[in-house]
Amino acid sequence: MLVLTRSRLPIRCALAVSALIATCSSSAFADDSLYRQFGGKAGIEHVIDDFYDRMLDDPRTKTFFDGASIPRIEKLLNQQFCVLMGGPCVYTGRSMRRAHEGLGIDGKAFAAGIEDLKLAMAKNHIPADAQKKLLSKLMPMAHDIEDRP
Ligand code: HEM
Repeated sequence: MLVLTRSRLPIRCALAVSALIATCSSSAFADDSLYRQFGGKAGIEHVIDDFYDRMLDDPRTKTFFDGASIPRIEKLLNQQFCVLMGGPCVYTGRSMRRAHEGLGIDGKAFAAGIEDLKLAMAKNHIPADAQKKLLSKLMPMAHDIEDRP
């Protein structure tokens, strides 16, 4: 009996070690560098606060938000940016097409929003390469956000 238990021990150890390696390596190799460059959740929140202050003050974008719940949108945008940057978050909002359909956002309004985001990132000292990386993830979304005839 003792012999059996002993002989199983290395197998159990091997299984435990491989489970540990799998757990460690999945987090060690997850690319959260962009998330860290933005300063994690707090850094993203600062950028989004400033981004929304600007969009709500900008005559080219503010009317689109009439009647919308800004705290709700900001919460969802924080989740979405966090996920896009490889952070430890889950996005619980709608698809970009569903969220923006019928709002009448055109190319000019989208470009104005991106301009406001760029100003918000610059104000919060986000490194230039990190700004570019986020923008390269957002720009293709224009296709779903803009209302096209
Ligand atoms: C890449 C750029 C953008 C991203 C990533 C983005 C992302 C989001 C997200 C995550 C939501 C919440 C989703 C949900 O309600 O489930 C949202 C809602 C909304 N967005 Fe955007 N957005 C972008 C550009 C814009 C622009 C340029 C405008 C207006 C000029 C705009 C206007 C709105 C409005 C009005 C809502 C609320 C819709 C509602 O409550 O029914 N968005 N957006």
